[in-house]
Amino acid sequence: MKALEIMTHSPEETEKLGERLAALLPRGIVVALYGDLATGKTCLTRGMAGYFTKNARVHSPTFTLVNEYGEDPVLYHLDLYRLSGAEDLLSIGYEEIIESDGICIIEWADRADSFLPEERLDIFLEHRSEDSRSLRFEARGIPDRILECLHNP
Ligand SMILES: Nc1ncnc2c1ncn2[C@@H]1O[C@H](COP(=O)(O)OP(=O)(O)O)[C@@H](O)[C@H]1O
Ligand SMILES: [Mg+2]
Repeated sequence: MKALEIMTHSPEETEKLGERLAALLPRGIVVALYGDLATGKTCLTRGMAGYFTKNARVHSPTFTLVNEYGEDPVLYHLDLYRLSGAEDLLSIGYEEIIESDGICIIEWADRADSFLPEERLDIFLEHRSEDSRSLRFEARGIPDRILECLHNP
């Protein structure tokens, strides 16, 4: 299975989905999130972080481009909304982050499109109604099993 679409009907449901997804992720993976403001990227990330570390306070970093949560594996949470150029990526050690064996989640991934690794999980989020969001998962060179397990819990 290369692609999968899931609808959620509340922020809690999106967070739970993030938690289920996190349980399936291999170390070293890059998860690229695409979608407008308030489509649930941070909410999904909060669910993922909750799986790896208790008490992580996940919000979109305002003045930094990256936050780190937990250890073994480290979860890197990048938010590239305010990215102004490739030099910003260099300054946060982007290369090391995506080549590390941590889990790397990138909000506004389209802002770094030419710097994304070819092997990654893409997730496209869309607003459907006040409380509904659609999440389309696309596996790029990563095990299809991840989407199969997400589809059939
Ligand atoms: N099904 C849903 N999934 C995620 N967020 C939802 C959902 N329904 C409503 N919301 C609301 O949408 C907003 C999503 O915010 P956030 O996760 O910060 O989005 P983003 O990081 O994409 O800007 C929150 O205010 C949340 O309460
Ligand atoms: Mg956000």
